[in-house]
Amino acid sequence: MGEKKTILVAGAAGNIGQYTLEALAKQGYSLIGFDLDNKRNRGIAKKFPDVEWIFGDIRNARDVEKGVSKADAVINLIAILPPHSEMNGLRTNAVNVDGVKTIIEKMEQSKRCKHLVFTSSAAVHGVGIPLNTLLTPNSPYNLEDYYSDTKAKAEQLIMKSNINWTILRLTAAPNLDPTAKELEDLEFIVNIGLNDPVEFCHPKDVGLALANAATKPLSQVNKQIFMIGGGSNEQYTAYDFVTTILKNTGVGKLPKSMFSTEPQFPGGWVDTAHSQEVLQYQRHTFKEYLKDLRDEVGFSKRMMTSVFSPLIQRHLKKVAKAAH
Ligand SMILES: NC(=O)c1ccc[n+]([C@@H]2O[C@H](COP(=O)([O-])OP(=O)(O)OC[C@H]3O[C@@H](n4cnc5c(N)ncnc54)[C@H](O)[C@@H]3O)[C@@H](O)[C@H]2O)c1
Repeated sequence: MGEKKTILVAGAAGNIGQYTLEALAKQGYSLIGFDLDNKRNRGIAKKFPDVEWIFGDIRNARDVEKGVSKADAVINLIAILPPHSEMNGLRTNAVNVDGVKTIIEKMEQSKRCKHLVFTSSAAVHGVGIPLNTLLTPNSPYNLEDYYSDTKAKAEQLIMKSNINWTILRLTAAPNLDPTAKELEDLEFIVNIGLNDPVEFCHPKDVGLALANAATKPLSQVNKQIFMIGGGSNEQYTAYDFVTTILKNTGVGKLPKSMFSTEPQFPGGWVDTAHSQEVLQYQRHTFKEYLKDLRDEVGFSKRMMTSVFSPLIQRHLKKVAKAAH
């Protein structure tokens, strides 16, 4: 009788990391959560008392070894994401590429920890993907920013390694935590093209896809790239996607004139027939996400934001005008 595996979730206190822990805990796995040592993450760790937490930095090989040495599989969610990824290329590379290299090295040295599940992004396919084109694992790389470049480099390191691996290329799985949204994140989301294709996937569903990728028999997932999205009912234009989210947080509806008519946002709609067949994760809709978002933001914060909405909108219009 084999005991259930121990799974290291790296980046466990993040947006998708927490849902990954939840999905794995429901399936009865022993869990190690790894994330940076700060007040926010220590607070989140308290919500998961059954998880063993290791607070450390992926850039520190000894911290990584502490986690890998106790695990049978690793799900790596750690990354610097846009817009922060574009502000400090060296740091982005150190975390998104060198960090992955360290995980691989420690796993190659380990006798028990041999399966790495990695969160990549549909952004590796670049901007200007036409609406209605479905990206697949074989669609070409088109690397136009630090973020996509580091994701592609990490994918290459993983594919060349001697460990078992599964890569999930994610579409948009926005955070539900209102405290995680800063003005610069809003500035980032208005820097998109009106008709850029965006596919939504609920972060809860991404967490389930990752959990299933780490726990399915290796014969079903090893050395495979899965495109992860919400499916054909969850494919939007960037304008509809972004303005609907902003409306639900109280910022209000932004005019079309604020957005570029040129493509700006990397990634697009994806073919999820295979990923859904194997990983069985598409359970929540954008509509449900918006309800969850309204509940998380809460009535008083939404009212507060709507009071400041003219100021926020004026600022965003200025940012958009400068960018296009
Ligand atoms: N959320 C999306 O829409 C989306 C889309 C495509 C791909 N992805 C990928 O999915 C993964 C998870 O995304 P998320 O939305 O949960 O992001 P997130 O920012 O919420 O989580 C990332 C986690 O990594 C941790 N981290 C950052 N630097 C670290 C370091 N040096 N050492 C240790 N931990 C560190 C952060 O503390 C955070 O908890 C990322 O790899 C991201 O690139 C996300």
